[in-house]
Amino acid sequence: MLQLSTRVGYSYSRMKTHAETYLRQYTQECAPFKSLHQRLAHIQAEIDHTGTYWQSSDELTYGAKLAWRNSTRCIGRLQWHNLEVHDMRHLSSAEDIFEACVEHLRLATNKGRIRSTITVFAPQVPGQPGIRIWNPQMIRYAGYRQPDRTILGDPAQVQLTDYLSHLGWQRKEKTAFDILPLIIQMLGQAPRFFELPSDAILEVPIRHPEYTWFETLDLKWHALPVISNMCLEIGGVLYSAAPFNGWYMGTEIGARNFGDQTRYNLLPVIAEKLNLNMKSKDSLWKDRALVELNIAVLYSFHSAGVTIVDHHTASRQFMVFEEQEHKAQRRVFGDWGWLVPPMSGSAMEVFHHPYKNRILTPNFFYQPAPWSVTDTQEVSSSHQCPFSTGG
Ligand code: ARG
Repeated sequence: MLQLSTRVGYSYSRMKTHAETYLRQYTQECAPFKSLHQRLAHIQAEIDHTGTYWQSSDELTYGAKLAWRNSTRCIGRLQWHNLEVHDMRHLSSAEDIFEACVEHLRLATNKGRIRSTITVFAPQVPGQPGIRIWNPQMIRYAGYRQPDRTILGDPAQVQLTDYLSHLGWQRKEKTAFDILPLIIQMLGQAPRFFELPSDAILEVPIRHPEYTWFETLDLKWHALPVISNMCLEIGGVLYSAAPFNGWYMGTEIGARNFGDQTRYNLLPVIAEKLNLNMKSKDSLWKDRALVELNIAVLYSFHSAGVTIVDHHTASRQFMVFEEQEHKAQRRVFGDWGWLVPPMSGSAMEVFHHPYKNRILTPNFFYQPAPWSVTDTQEVSSSHQCPFSTGG
């Protein structure tokens, strides 16, 4: 008992410090004429009373934008101001949360003219686990273990696909691009899965501007990347379910999702179709296959009218972001290994800039995989939420 109250006392003061730091920044950048002291006094009293505080929707909205601005791995931060924030903190059932996720998909997809969007669900009560969406992204393709030990679909989703089949999900006819249902878990409840309606998901068939054989590979990818398993932290408040999206940079699909050996592993397939000499590393067959694959991704998204950015433009836009930040007298931090696109790195300016990777808050943090709080892989990767109670 004593231990518990000491811990609670500690987190109260920590909550107050974080609240104050954020409120100062919010007021300075957004509402310089508002009375900071009055708001702080109110928040502190609320924390004393309840252990936490309820952010105003303006505080929440600006905090979500700052979390994007502070995301050192993101090359798309020029857009940080243009984030649509859906405040869904009032929802309390898994069904309602699922409906809000579907609404997010529709509004953000916007028939291809993608809108950067975040939907924020109720914050975590300190000391208790929060609402969780188990899927790493709202739209992901299943990865099925096959009897011959190969994987059909996306190998990165094998674990989640396994969990779903434990929960009773199954597909009669399996393909390489089956969209996984959403798993939502409310506090103190078992996780439940919900099938996403297909008309809420836009997909792009992949074609090449010159090689007609490309279509016979039957490749496609979804238009919207919505990260759904990270924790948004604003002023000490943790939003454990706050799915957010921007739009794709072509290489995320063409180089990583399709090209990685541990994902769809398509470089050998493309190289063979291109009749490249795969016996010699010097032929640079992988590099040539990568280029054609990425040309196909950009071409297909553009022809389908779906927002996408190529890596050269993205790098240029990041330089504009840096200039803007410097004008505002702020330093830009970055995670170089993530910022530099996964192909033709040195052909872009971002490659030639050094970055210090300082993690400011508000920010998005990894949180332990919901199916296992001791999941070492997730816990050790990059910056973990410093406020996480491990729930
Ligand atoms: N790389 C991830 C994917 O391929 C998406 C990460 C977020 N990307 C973005 N452009 N907002 O699905």
